[in-house]
Amino acid sequence: MPRHFLMFVVVASLTSLAVAQKPTVKKVPAPYTSPTSGPEMYASYCAACHGKDAKGNGPAAPALKVPPTDLTMLAKQNHGKFPYDHVAAVLNGKAMMPAHGSSEMPIWGKVFWSISGGHKGEVQQRVANLTKYLESMQVK
Ligand code: HEC
Repeated sequence: MPRHFLMFVVVASLTSLAVAQKPTVKKVPAPYTSPTSGPEMYASYCAACHGKDAKGNGPAAPALKVPPTDLTMLAKQNHGKFPYDHVAAVLNGKAMMPAHGSSEMPIWGKVFWSISGGHKGEVQQRVANLTKYLESMQVK
């Protein structure tokens, strides 16, 4: 059954002609991904802003007012310990971003809730697998 999800994933369209022009950000329905695959979810939902390598330089980044966080530095910035609970809370929309008031970072818990048709276990599985994937990308 084809399902249509109303939610936020960002695609950037870059115009090659005007060098100075910023990419524009469009919100499109999030594609379905496997809740067991951190890498697949990351590529589909996060890489547009945070970049494939998670260093914060995705194609949509220049269009944002707040630069996307370098997600490979989370452990280093937390005395070498990956802040697992904090990241999970951010994804669930339960933690505020440290520096900024009005965040451009989507609340993924809501998106995952919608993708899973309100299945709480699947939402938790998605958040857990994404968080573990980010943990695996930390610089030493
Ligand atoms: C629309 C662009 C965008 C997308 C898509 C996006 N992010 Fe973000 N993200 C941001 C921005 C911008 C910030 C910095 C927000 C701030 O500091 O207020 C951020 C911050 C974060 C933080 C907070 C780090 C900290 O220091 O607390 C985490 C964790 C994070 N993103 C993970 C993800 C994950 C995982 C995904 C995919 C499921 C994702 N982001 C998708 C834009 C995005």
